[in-house]
Amino acid sequence: MRSTESLRDFCQGLPKAELHLHIEGTFEPELLFAIAARNGVPLRFPTVEALREAYAFTDLQSFLDIYYEGAGVLLHEADFFDLTWAYLLRAAADGVRHVEIFFDPQTHTDRGVPFATVLDGIERALKRGEDELGVSYGIILCFLRHLPEDAALATFEEARPHLHRLVGVGLDSSEVGFPPSGFQRVFALAREAGLHVVAHAGEEGPPAYVYEALDLLRVERVDHGVRSIEDPALVRRLVEGRIPLTVCPLSNTALKVFGHLRDHTLAGLHEAGVVVTLNSDDPAYFGGYIAQNFLETAVALGLDRATLATFARNSFEAAFLPEARKRELMAEVDAFVAG
Ligand code: ADE
Ligand code: ZN
Repeated sequence: MRSTESLRDFCQGLPKAELHLHIEGTFEPELLFAIAARNGVPLRFPTVEALREAYAFTDLQSFLDIYYEGAGVLLHEADFFDLTWAYLLRAAADGVRHVEIFFDPQTHTDRGVPFATVLDGIERALKRGEDELGVSYGIILCFLRHLPEDAALATFEEARPHLHRLVGVGLDSSEVGFPPSGFQRVFALAREAGLHVVAHAGEEGPPAYVYEALDLLRVERVDHGVRSIEDPALVRRLVEGRIPLTVCPLSNTALKVFGHLRDHTLAGLHEAGVVVTLNSDDPAYFGGYIAQNFLETAVALGLDRATLATFARNSFEAAFLPEARKRELMAEVDAFVAG
């Protein structure tokens, strides 16, 4: 048994899948400045430190404003490659064995960057990560919910020639006032095309948004979903359907969903029987990659190593992977825990 190593080493070594990760949210200020310089894109921040100082968020929207601004320096295939490769190196060092990456094509196509440029760069890095780091992957196209569904439908048509390169679609951006019900047509098209479907719901929005995501979009996983605990019937539904939540603890405290990690609902959801997974969301902005999320959550909520291992097994159960690969990865967790 592993008992002598530090909790930090345990959290880093534990094999896991990352299922809630916005690639644009992995843009570290140093890389952002380097890419802005090589692309000749002016920044309103004079230094890396000044940019970092602006990462003092009050809610989801205050973060999204700066996140979209940062993504504005990404222009070329090599930029998307560099961004994704830098993330994969960090993730592999954190024990990530499989990743399902979100990307927001509208953030880029609305600036004139071709859809294929974005996807080509991300996918080239992921293929290299699979070959050189042994990290398998899926790519999830997210629609921006603050834009009309017609824009999402146009994006889906743009993506059509590339659907074989995607594992699923999702829904992200500003939540309150933009309920899942507004995206039923585009999600129906995605399901008809054989894609998996997920959506952010119950991050800042109420349990009603989680019900809409389940009933109207027919999502297979809920991204965040942490407010589900306010509705016992909804919790029962998540438990009985084994519908996983992709929880992002450091994101939730950075965006003031919870005042402190010790107030987080994830332990209560887990104890109720919900399939909880831990993820980093936008790690360059929220103070830590996935192992840091495991570590700080364990310390704040007093979770033992067996519970962390359960979250890791949950991440493989929740992944959009063939059963054989899931079993192989879960066996890695068992072997790691046994030492
Ligand atoms: N886009 C990037 N991160 C997000 C989050 N946490 N919620 C909604 N949209 C996002
Ligand atoms: Zn997210």
